[in-house]
Amino acid sequence: METKIFKNTEIEAAAKDLKAGQLVAFPTETVYGLGADALNETAVKQVYQAKGRPSDNPLIVHVADIQTVERLAQPLSDAAKKLMTAFWPGSLTMIFNLRPGVLSKAVTGGLNTAAFRFPANDTTLALIKAVGHPLVGPSANTSGKPSPTTAQHVAHDLDGKIAGIVDDGPTKVGVESTVLDMSTDQPAILRPGAVTAAEIEAVIGQTVATEIHQVGAKETPKAPGMKYKHYAPSAQVLIVNDGDWAEALAWAAKQPVQLGLMITDDRLHQLTVPRNVEAYSLGQDVTTASHHLFDGLRHFDDETDIKDILAEGFSNDGIGLAYMNRLKKSAGNTFFEA
Ligand code: TXA
Ligand code: MG
Repeated sequence: METKIFKNTEIEAAAKDLKAGQLVAFPTETVYGLGADALNETAVKQVYQAKGRPSDNPLIVHVADIQTVERLAQPLSDAAKKLMTAFWPGSLTMIFNLRPGVLSKAVTGGLNTAAFRFPANDTTLALIKAVGHPLVGPSANTSGKPSPTTAQHVAHDLDGKIAGIVDDGPTKVGVESTVLDMSTDQPAILRPGAVTAAEIEAVIGQTVATEIHQVGAKETPKAPGMKYKHYAPSAQVLIVNDGDWAEALAWAAKQPVQLGLMITDDRLHQLTVPRNVEAYSLGQDVTTASHHLFDGLRHFDDETDIKDILAEGFSNDGIGLAYMNRLKKSAGNTFFEA
């Protein structure tokens, strides 16, 4: 199959393929999604095949209006409505209990719940409206690889396997949406993203559980890579904490190979970079670092022979929690030890 590249103005043509049950990758403000008609079970099943994704891992349902959520989900709580008003369209995915029989097992992985997202991207909102059905959209990467933040990343992983890609340039945020479970009494964050627990708590006036901390507590340091098969480049990533940079680069200088460096500009300019180290800029702060993270990991894998990357660590504040969550997974939780 030849994968078409659609311009962000070619919405009707992309919608036609989706209506015919084909797969078309679409842009969002976070990362690119692999789209299929959420109400077409055969199409949804092909999403798992194209990505090589385990079929029990449920998909996010992307909508362009709140009415679609109301039709599929059990009556929404006041907290849910407040969060929609505050954050939609935007990077907050919410899990709700479903009405019986409305979505296939292929979407839900057999759960009674589904994740809903109203992305902040006008091209994709127009695409969903043109299809007339919600779209499933896991990140449009091969399962286990860093999520795609450009149409070129999608093509690298899925060229020849899907009907098309709607190219809307690089995504803004760069890390996937916050996933918030609203199906139980206490809302719980299952995946950190640009919308933080504190922002959610401020809107609903209720404490939010942050499950990822519990996952962290159970970590087995012996084999962190076993647990973290996500976002993994072929290269080994070493996270470098504040204060360890001079030693990290002194260590790098002694290695007999080329190394990669993912680092913010100000920090780079304070350091002397050894000749065998290639720097990739993460911009000026943790927000731009989140935007560039997956592109940087892919750059070293796809465009160089580099097998070891030193990457800048940040504190867990704000979007830093999402950045560090993805970076730790890509590094198998490995830090440079001074
Ligand atoms: O930013 C994003 O969320 C991107 C863009 C394309 O919208 N999508 C994305 O989808 O990251 P995906 O499939 O790569 O990640 C969705 C996450 C998975 O970890 C999945 O297990 C979880 O959400 N999930 C989906 N439905 C769920 C459900 N009903 N209950 C619990 N977790 C769910
Ligand atoms: Mg994903």
